[in-house]
Amino acid sequence: MSVQAIAWSPSGAVRIVDQRALPEARIERDLESGEAVADAIRTLQVRGAPLIGIAAAMGLVAGTRELRAAPREGFLARLHELAALLGAARPTAVNLRWALDRMVRVAAATPGGGAAVWERLQAEATDIWEEDRAMCRRIGEAGLPLVPDGAKVLTHCNAGALATGGIGTALAPIYLAHDAGRRVEVFVDETRPVLQGARLTAWELVHAGIPCTVIADGAAGSLMRQAKVDLVIVGADRIATNGDFANKIGTYSLAVLALHHGVPFYCAAPSSTIDVALADGGGIPIEQRAPDEVKRVAGRLVAPAEAGALNPAFDVTPARYVTAFLTDRGLEHPPFRDGTQR
Ligand code: MRU
Repeated sequence: MSVQAIAWSPSGAVRIVDQRALPEARIERDLESGEAVADAIRTLQVRGAPLIGIAAAMGLVAGTRELRAAPREGFLARLHELAALLGAARPTAVNLRWALDRMVRVAAATPGGGAAVWERLQAEATDIWEEDRAMCRRIGEAGLPLVPDGAKVLTHCNAGALATGGIGTALAPIYLAHDAGRRVEVFVDETRPVLQGARLTAWELVHAGIPCTVIADGAAGSLMRQAKVDLVIVGADRIATNGDFANKIGTYSLAVLALHHGVPFYCAAPSSTIDVALADGGGIPIEQRAPDEVKRVAGRLVAPAEAGALNPAFDVTPARYVTAFLTDRGLEHPPFRDGTQR
């Protein structure tokens, strides 16, 4: 059983699992306002491309609850203000922009005052979440033949249930293989600097009873050289139409290593992660996070305070390194002519 990363609270707030606290503690937080959701996205309480989009859509709903009695113009003005705030929270995952644009479009097309538009938006945010859950399952089904009994899969960062509205993207075929009774071993890159692999992927796999082994990021090449890895599956934050894609920093190194060692390398993502406006990976905005994330481990300084640090949160892997893309439409190869964005 995979974990559920997001829900509506009974009062209509956005209920999240605060991912900063894992794996020590599973803390749920109810985010009552759009500002609180934007802050949760910025500070990685909620993270992972699909989940960021879902949380932002739900944040628009939670953040406009009090304006239901407002006339249409006042309601829409506040909605646009919140959409701008949420859209600026993180730059790389296109799912954030995609979900917010969809919500704003739906609001514009819904007649009536605040109450009517709000109700329509609540249904739309729930649809975005449920569609993501369904896309995760289809990604899993598409990837299931790649994970036979005894498979050893390596993954990076967290592209599991904690990053989506369902069973994840990169982890979806692993969950379904496990459910089908196949023995699967997962090597989990710890994923410095903030350890989404060690803290989150390992936590959700252990929770689901799937054997996993955390490795230092630098260990992946050596394992591949010893033929201990059958395939690599990673997620994506944005895929350009030519198949170049952004994912957690370190993904590119992994792709180069996989090609060098003849290990198949798959990128799993819902079609909402395909940016149809982008020809190649050169145009993907890469988030630069605080240097302190690199210089500290679990809050403790592990480098001289005076040392500089670079902290790009993502890198771009050129399409030629990808064996195939696992999307909700099946096993795909670029060019991608359509996402769900039109
Ligand atoms: O900084 P994060 O933790 O949001 O980065 C997440 C990733 O890089 C994931 O691999 C990606 O968003 C895909 S999640 C299904």
